[in-house]
Amino acid sequence: MKKDLISITDLSISEIKDIFSLSSKVKKNKKKYSQALFGKTIALIFQKPSLRTRVSFEVGIKQLGGSAIYLGREEVNLGVREAVSDVAKTLSRYVDGIVARTFEHKYVVELAKYADVPVINGLSDLLHPCQALADIFTLEEKLKKVKGIRLAYIGDGNNVCNSLLHISAKLGINVNVASPMGYSPGDDTLSAARSIADTTGAKINVFFDASSAVKDADVIYTDVWTSMGQEEEREKRIEIFKDFQTNKALLSLAEKDCLVMHCLPAHRGEEITEEVIESKNSVIFDQAENRLHVQKAIMIKLLNR
Ligand code: CP
Ligand code: NVA
Repeated sequence: MKKDLISITDLSISEIKDIFSLSSKVKKNKKKYSQALFGKTIALIFQKPSLRTRVSFEVGIKQLGGSAIYLGREEVNLGVREAVSDVAKTLSRYVDGIVARTFEHKYVVELAKYADVPVINGLSDLLHPCQALADIFTLEEKLKKVKGIRLAYIGDGNNVCNSLLHISAKLGINVNVASPMGYSPGDDTLSAARSIADTTGAKINVFFDASSAVKDADVIYTDVWTSMGQEEEREKRIEIFKDFQTNKALLSLAEKDCLVMHCLPAHRGEEITEEVIESKNSVIFDQAENRLHVQKAIMIKLLNR
């Protein structure tokens, strides 16, 4: 494996499968791995808020015998208080791994470039690879096999969507993305995903209406219309995305037992209704739980290299 996990594209198909297999062992037998990272420390450099990512990494490393130090924006204001390279080089002398959540993607890349220890992307404006791994691990648990399934992503072509496209292309999952005009995933992401998809048989299609995209879907995935850092666009986005809500009517167009996913946090009543979050189709809290198990596997793989 590469030193860092910045993007799903850093991983080969067999590395993804290895992470899933270890995740499932770690999940089944927590005790067996209780010393797997004994005495190791990770630093969490977070420039944005977080519930799941922060808590699952902190609890995860503790359950593996190690510890975590949280560094919020007040402590480390990347590139403002000091150069990103100096942060990376200094932390490498103290800790065994860094988890970073940043606005600009280039900061995670730069941390990885200058750190001697593994850097894990805990979300940037561009990508959210840990989320995508936990999501597809959840689908494997629910459906046993993911190759060939049809996933419809409804909403903003954002960080979560980008990593989901990468992992789906790698694992042969067909994806229909439906977004308002101008909010589809970027051309770079689409062309990277499509060129991977060409080798695995996955089909990646972009739509501008939600109903066409969810037809025959086995899974519907959505995320907020307004991501962290875009707060001032919220009113405008609510108007632009209003026909892209995941609700009962949309679900009725998909496969009968279609699973519903959301990375959380959700804005209930905007991109997804209360009713759908709480419905039997929803696997949203299983996804959230699996962040813990999958990230434990990622840390074991990277910190024990
Ligand atoms: N899904 C996710 O990354 O949640 P947080 O922003 O709470 O970490
Ligand atoms: N797209 C969302 C994901 C949060 C986990 C954001 O970046 O805010």
